[in-house]
Amino acid sequence: MSQMLLESTHISHSFDYTLFTDIDFTLESYESKAIVGRSGSGKSTLLHIFSTFMKPDEGNVRLFGENLYSLKDDEIEALRRYDVGIIFQFHYLFKGMSAMENIEVASMLSGERIADEILEQLEIKALMHQKIGELSGGQQQRISIARVLSKQPRIIFADEPTGNLDKETASLVMDVLLDYCKETGAGLLLVTHDEGMAQRCNKAYRLEDKMLKALK
Ligand SMILES: Nc1ncnc2c1ncn2[C@@H]1O[C@H](COP(=O)(O)OP(=O)(O)O)[C@@H](O)[C@H]1O
Ligand SMILES: [Mg+2]
Repeated sequence: MSQMLLESTHISHSFDYTLFTDIDFTLESYESKAIVGRSGSGKSTLLHIFSTFMKPDEGNVRLFGENLYSLKDDEIEALRRYDVGIIFQFHYLFKGMSAMENIEVASMLSGERIADEILEQLEIKALMHQKIGELSGGQQQRISIARVLSKQPRIIFADEPTGNLDKETASLVMDVLLDYCKETGAGLLLVTHDEGMAQRCNKAYRLEDKMLKALK
């Protein structure tokens, strides 16, 4: 049975200029949605708003049925730790530690374990004992994705997760993210400038003229 994970209404935000006004957006379990748009259109800002890291000028965000702006700090903290997975284009890993140790830190915090199949699917199983500093950028990116999935998030926010990867590796990462949603019922919101990647999601939108226009 599908379940509403994210429900945001009337979201507006400006920095030096108005990025978007009156945006409504929902994401259900098992669902993948993509947002494309030009650089500077506000994609990352929107993702930060949906994922608890920024409060918009106007509008409301509900995650897992909870109104974010009436939760206490420790409740937001718990959401981030257990339920929300965020993947950035530039990963944050501990350089002196091995790949395995990096993943274990995340597992320890959430009390979950990474599935061996995910490491195999990401083609990083053989790298587990290498130091992060010895790995290529693309390998590090895949370690950081495994790290996020290891806590078994109920919703994944991915901001240009394949931006640094060659086409084949990017496609493999998309397979892993989409399979994870299919298997666990998590929802995926992907922000990308790559329309090909966006088309692989159930629905895709373009952030343009301050609104989200449906592409598919
Ligand atoms: N914290 C901030 N303070 C001021 N301006 C910001 C901040 N974050 C983003 N911006 C500005 O908002 C605009 C949209 O940024 P962003 O959401 O990162 O767009 P995108 O991800 O689509 O490239 C840019 O002009 C950026 O400089
Ligand atoms: Mg961005």
